[in-house]
Amino acid sequence: MNQFLSVHDVPDLLALVQEAAALKQAPFAHQDLGKNRTLGLLFFNTSLRTRLSTQRAAQNLGLNVMVMNVSQDSWGLEFEDGVVMNGTKAEHVKEAAAVVGQYCEIIGVRSFPTLTDRESDYAETVINQFRRYAGVPLLSLESATRHPLQSLADLLTIDEYKTTARPKVVLTWAPHVKALPQAVPNSFAEWMNAAQTLGLVDFIIAHPKGYELHSDFSGNAPVTENQAEAFEGADFIYAKNWSSYREYGKILSQDPNWMVTPEKMALTNQAKFMHCLPVRRNIVVADAVLDSPDSIVIQQAGNRVWAAQAVLKRMLENRSSDDLRKAAQPD
Ligand code: CP
Repeated sequence: MNQFLSVHDVPDLLALVQEAAALKQAPFAHQDLGKNRTLGLLFFNTSLRTRLSTQRAAQNLGLNVMVMNVSQDSWGLEFEDGVVMNGTKAEHVKEAAAVVGQYCEIIGVRSFPTLTDRESDYAETVINQFRRYAGVPLLSLESATRHPLQSLADLLTIDEYKTTARPKVVLTWAPHVKALPQAVPNSFAEWMNAAQTLGLVDFIIAHPKGYELHSDFSGNAPVTENQAEAFEGADFIYAKNWSSYREYGKILSQDPNWMVTPEKMALTNQAKFMHCLPVRRNIVVADAVLDSPDSIVIQQAGNRVWAAQAVLKRMLENRSSDDLRKAAQPD
């Protein structure tokens, strides 16, 4: 695997999920794989789960890890080509990414969207500039439009907790106090659509009017504005807020009737409740759901380690440090 930016970088989805499950059973079976090699993790935005789970995954493979909160600790980075750098940004990504690539065999980047410039966000300007200039394989720690490590962990969790061969999985919008990115729902939809193609799930999306995801992500999934109808017979409820794609970055609704409650969970097939976390209690989901035995959000977060470890293993195996650099040559 030369990069992990989306589900499109995974040629064999089921095998990758099975690999993550196997690593969960034997976390230290490949401790020599990362020996004398270094993973660099660059965070433009805050994180708890992604930062710690990816570090833990790397340590399980024997990798050294360097972490930097780029926005706080490094120079302000310029991403546009050909600009006169007479403003506040002191370094161009062209040098910064290439330099980090000198120190690390793999680089992970977290960079959230602006939620103001849809064109730039959906062009994945930040992650693509790193991909272009780093000279080593790139791992998305959540980009402007996707969160693939989260989605892989989500699929692993669904596989672990399913009670039927083809569970009904519902992605439901839920209210929030802030405008949030579309990255998690985009990515979840993309991965669930791929899983549905393999016959692993039946996937449906519920959201209020105006919250349609870009069709590249929602694909052919059925979409409803009737949350209760979507919940009927569901095996998994995946709640998430996102801001509007159409009226880009805007909050169009904060309707509390979209919060996930015990009454709504009662419509399901004793569904498991999932959320990527962090979650706002009694805004997105009622305490009684989040604290119930059917909530698997902690197990879901735990699976972030095995998702990251499976991806890092795929990037490292059968490759020298030179091979990693050659594999990362941009198109
Ligand atoms: N789910 C998730 O990515 O959590 P963090 O933002 O804490 O990394």
